[in-house]
Amino acid sequence: MTQRIQPAPCLSLLNGVQIPQLGLGTWPMNDAECAVTVAAALQMGYRHIDTAENYENERGVGEGIRNSGVTRREVFVTTKFNRKWHSVDGARQACEASLKRLGLDYIDLLLVHWPNPDQDRYLEAFQGLVKLLEAGVVRAIGTSNFKPAHLQRLFDLGLVPHLNQIQLDPYHLRDDLVALHRERGIVTGAWRPLGCGNAMLADPAITAIAERHGRTSAQIVLRWLVQQGFVATPKSSNPTRMAQNLAIFDFALSDDEMAALGRLDRLDPEMFDADRFGH
Ligand code: A2P
Repeated sequence: MTQRIQPAPCLSLLNGVQIPQLGLGTWPMNDAECAVTVAAALQMGYRHIDTAENYENERGVGEGIRNSGVTRREVFVTTKFNRKWHSVDGARQACEASLKRLGLDYIDLLLVHWPNPDQDRYLEAFQGLVKLLEAGVVRAIGTSNFKPAHLQRLFDLGLVPHLNQIQLDPYHLRDDLVALHRERGIVTGAWRPLGCGNAMLADPAITAIAERHGRTSAQIVLRWLVQQGFVATPKSSNPTRMAQNLAIFDFALSDDEMAALGRLDRLDPEMFDADRFGH
């Protein structure tokens, strides 16, 4: 039987749209895995699913939503589009293609996936998102992996994304971006919040706090993120871990614990640099 967890609380985006603070990440699941996992996640209590054109699993996400028995209005769907759509009309085409793959008639949050400054068309891409917002086909718009200089060029045009989704975890604090987001009212979204592929979850500074609370390291990291007012979208296709990742709203970290987790930042030469990497 599916374990039921209380849905995550929501944050308000600048336009008042409510976004659930904890969502299910779907990379690198394929369509078949997504169809099963998304349905299970929604039945469990998840209300936010994060996908992208580039993950090639939007069809599975749509199928999972339809199979879940949860009504469309209760689900918040985020998706993102690739570099080839970076123009005003390209954003419209990307949105239409995502809607078709998802089998939906609107998207909750549509993001420019990477700025791709080499082609220098992310401003046009975002202007395309503004048109989609005005047309009501998306409820909120944003960016992903934008660095301060990329955001500044949007601000110079009077444009502010509702959310900027970035790689963020205790080893990647991204203080410059977080400060800029706060100043402008942009919600910070954290991708790869569990630091996939490194030993972060075994860090003694994290496991000590986990032991104190009788929680897992993943729950401590996710709690640390949401307690700062961020949105986190951890991927799991394991029902026990999916449930664990959502069950973080019934305890709190102390100021000292928050500060201790905020001291683990380190240089990561492997981290994607949005001035050089994108798709
Ligand atoms: P799995 O799908 O088997 O649970 P991230 O969000 O950082 O990308 O993390 C994704 C990775 O972390 C996946 O490999 C996922 O594996 C694993 N993961 C997800 N939730 C947890 C958890 N609560 N504890 C440990 N590992 C987790």
